[in-house]
Amino acid sequence: MSIEQVRSHFGFSKMPFGKDLSPSALHRHGGHLEAVARIGFLVAEAAIGVVTGEVGSGKTVAARAAMAELEPSRHTLIYLPNPAIGARGIYAEIVGRLGGAPRYFKSALIAQATELLGIEAAERGRRVVIVCDEAHLLDPSQLEELRLLTNAEMDSASPFALVLLGQPSLRSRLRLGSFAALDQRVTLRYAIPPMTPEETASYVAHHVKLGGRTDTLFSDDALASIHQAGRGLPRAVNNLARSALVAAYANHSAIVDEKAARQAVTEVDAE
Ligand SMILES: Nc1ncnc2c1ncn2[C@@H]1O[C@H](COP(=O)(O)OP(=O)(O)OP(=O)(O)O)[C@@H](O)[C@H]1O
Ligand SMILES: [Mg+2]
Repeated sequence: MSIEQVRSHFGFSKMPFGKDLSPSALHRHGGHLEAVARIGFLVAEAAIGVVTGEVGSGKTVAARAAMAELEPSRHTLIYLPNPAIGARGIYAEIVGRLGGAPRYFKSALIAQATELLGIEAAERGRRVVIVCDEAHLLDPSQLEELRLLTNAEMDSASPFALVLLGQPSLRSRLRLGSFAALDQRVTLRYAIPPMTPEETASYVAHHVKLGGRTDTLFSDDALASIHQAGRGLPRAVNNLARSALVAAYANHSAIVDEKAARQAVTEVDAE
């Protein structure tokens, strides 16, 4: 059995529940919209914010959607996908992204980053937006680096926005005494909630429609099982919905019913 067979069995023009959606094709559920709006606010205010959510809750997708709404000529985006870029990493990334050749010594590198951030704002009239993804993985020295950077920013006329995205542990981590100086600069915290059962149903229907079908394909009880097992988290719902389509195909069924959904849940649990 191939995905192509499943696709053609259900008459999809394209197999749904893929992950490469353009910003305009995203599902607009509450948590997603709220996260996008808050990131937009942080950018406009040149503030520091923390957006948390469970694995697969849509943090990266929301940040990308918020970035896609920004006027490209007025913003410079620095997306740091993973803190594992090392100790010099954050500053070196910023300097490189702003067109500089990172200086060797850290003190010089910090000054260089600050200077380039200033030039970007004052001379080019561009707001720098730093998005630090997987920020729950930042180690203490990296958090300290971010704090130093925001300190420098306070003293100069080079405001930038800093968005920290991470798993829920990020919030408690920042609350630890040693990070108080950074935590106090955080003006906004948002925890992306899971989708409600209604949102999951609408999310699945949205993907099915993107696949080229407008009729009902998932039964209500199948949707309820998928919502419950996936806990309303978009990535989990995608995986379960895709497995349920495969199970329904194997059952020679024209719709995804409770049985197919249950098979998908068992299969995903077993992984
Ligand atoms: N608004 C949305 N519309 C459509 N699909 C979405 C939406 N939000 C999330 N998804 C789907 O869920 C998947 C997971 O989202 P995302 O990668 O943003 O989660 P995450 O919270 O960053 O997860 P991780 O903690 O693993 O980094 C995406 O690849 C996408 O397929
Ligand atoms: Mg992510």
